[in-house]
Order: sequence, then structure tokens, then C-alpha cells
Amino acid sequence: MSLHTLPGLVDVHVHLRVPGGEHKETVASGTSAALAGGVTAVLAMPNTSPPITDGASLDAARAAHAEARCDVGIFLGATDDNAEAAAAAADGACGLKIYVNETFGPLRVEALPTLAAHFAAWPRGKPIVLHAEEVAVATAIGLGATYGQHVHIAHVSRAQEIELIAAAKQAGLRVTCEVAPHHLFLCETDLPRLGTFGLMRPPLARPADRDALWSHLDAVDCIATDHAPHSREEKAGPKPPPGVPGLETTLPLMLTAVHEGRLTLERLVELCSTTPARLFGIETPNESSVEVEIGPARQLPERGWQTKPDWSAFAGMTVHGRVLRTTLRGQVVFEDGRITARPGAGRVLFG
Ligand code: DOR
Ligand code: ZN
Repeated sequence: MSLHTLPGLVDVHVHLRVPGGEHKETVASGTSAALAGGVTAVLAMPNTSPPITDGASLDAARAAHAEARCDVGIFLGATDDNAEAAAAAADGACGLKIYVNETFGPLRVEALPTLAAHFAAWPRGKPIVLHAEEVAVATAIGLGATYGQHVHIAHVSRAQEIELIAAAKQAGLRVTCEVAPHHLFLCETDLPRLGTFGLMRPPLARPADRDALWSHLDAVDCIATDHAPHSREEKAGPKPPPGVPGLETTLPLMLTAVHEGRLTLERLVELCSTTPARLFGIETPNESSVEVEIGPARQLPERGWQTKPDWSAFAGMTVHGRVLRTTLRGQVVFEDGRITARPGAGRVLFG
């Protein structure tokens, strides 16, 4: 068994569901889940209800996150007619999120003129993050190169996508990407076992896709959870929404990969903390850290999570990693399985 102190994790893809989805997750429960997972900063997605698409909705969301227990940055979301309004509000956001493919919520932009308008208007310097699958990855890379924008591809899940991104990087293009733990540790052969609880966008892929993500890990910039909480009732119901919680399982899973020799602890820190912080301009707060244990085997539990829906698609998996203690700005915020942070221990970033 070994003990290690790492910098707090920075998770650039989290759904906190505020405003409008508080029955799924609240700022309190979502940021508590982050701290329990060793995550000290999250970037929150704009597919809320209503979505975060302009200065007014961003200001309201920023105010609603004042009670955060970890640091939070907030994305603006692209619509068919908000290119100017989003660009005008960019100072208070961590980036622009464009959903090119269908997913949870109403945000979606797929017409070329609208995509081009966003790429033209968005100020250079903050990333444009795209939910872009399959051929849409090429669209995103092409638009980024044309308009001189930093393009970040969210939750890459297929061999063809990571191969294209690796080639674009080789060609010197400003493209970065993230991979979600569920695409690294699960695949479509887990679906019969998981049922509707294994549905997410992008969907679980073929074993060969999962293996390609591991073999191209050098082309991956960040591990990001796409923490997408939905209630048990919703997931078991007739119209199960896509998404799985992930904030509390990333470190146990990634530390297991370290235990198994699939990556080094140094590379884990790059993927989960230093590179996401650098790419999104997040200052790592002083005296912030996560203490972890690598070694002893245990099974991830069905219940007892901080995230409000209190389920995990990884329940039952054997892991060899555990978060023991999280510290934020010198204060212990998670210890021995308990959240000790006060509301507002985190900061709302950008602006
Ligand atoms: O599975 C997903 N769930 N993928 C997304 O892109 C959105 C997310 C959600 O908001 O639930
Ligand atoms: Zn997402």
C-alpha cells in the first residue's frame, strides 16, 4: 500500500444542473461529490433549465453557485442566434460549449452558418468546447483552424476520433481533447448488465474503441468526468435520460490503472489536474491537495455517494485506489468519508 499527496483535480466537464435541475443535483451535492472525489475545481455545463446562453443567465448562474464547496467555472452555451450575446459575456465564462450532436437538453447547433458565426464572434483565448462525434470532430477541427480558435473536443469515445485528433495535433493544429472514465473503463459489452443506467452520450463504444483510447493516451489532454446526474427513477423510467455520475469514481478508477501499470502517477496528475488547469486558465489555489491511497482492493459501493442520485455505473467494480482527504486553501474539506467544507468554501471563477 502506498500513500500520495496530489494537487486537487480539475474536472472540466461537469453537470451541476443549476438552475432548473435541482431534483437531480444541487450546487451543494454536486460540489460535495467533487470534494469527495478529490476534485477542487469543476467547470459546469450550460445545458441547464433555462440554459446559460447570455450575460443575464450567466450572472444568475454565477450567483446561484456562490454556495459552492469547490471552485466552479461556468460555460456559456451556443444557440442558433446567440453568437454575439455569448461573445459579449465571455469574460464571466470559462469557455463556449457547442453541442453539435443531440444530447440531454435543448442546446444544439448543427448548421454550418451558425457554427461559423460562433467561431467568428467568440474572443480568441478561451476554448470552444464541442460535443462533436464522428465526422463532426472533423467539422470542429476545420472550424478551429479556419478561425484561429482553440478547439477542445469533449468526451472522445471512438478510435476514429482519437486517431483524427492525434493527426491534427501532429499537423500543429490547436486542438485538445478530454476522455471520460466511463469510456475508458466500460464498453458496450457492459450494457446488458447496466441496462438504462449505462446509457449516455456518446454511448458506450466497442471494446476496440475503449482500447484505442488507452493506446492513444498520449494524444489525450484531460480526463474529465462528464458527471451527468439523473435520478434513479428517471434512469429506470420509460424515457431514460443519457448520462452517468462520475465525480467520485474518477480517482479510484485512475489510481487502479496506476496500480495495474497502465499509466504513471505523474501522467495521472497531468491528465486530471495540471493540463486541464492550464488549458482553461484555472489558477490552482494555494495549499490545496488530495491525499490518496493506492493498493488495497475494495468494491465500489451501490450507495453512500455524495452525488444526489446516489448511484454509480461503476458499482461493484474492484478498485485499488481511494481518496482519503481533500484540502482546499488550507482547510480540510473532505476526510474519512465526510464532507467538512462549509458552503462557499469554493470560489466562482472567471470575472
Ligand atoms: O450523457 C450525457 N449526459 N451526455 C451529454 O452530453 C449530456 C449529459 C447530460 O447533461 O445529462
Ligand atoms: Zn456533458
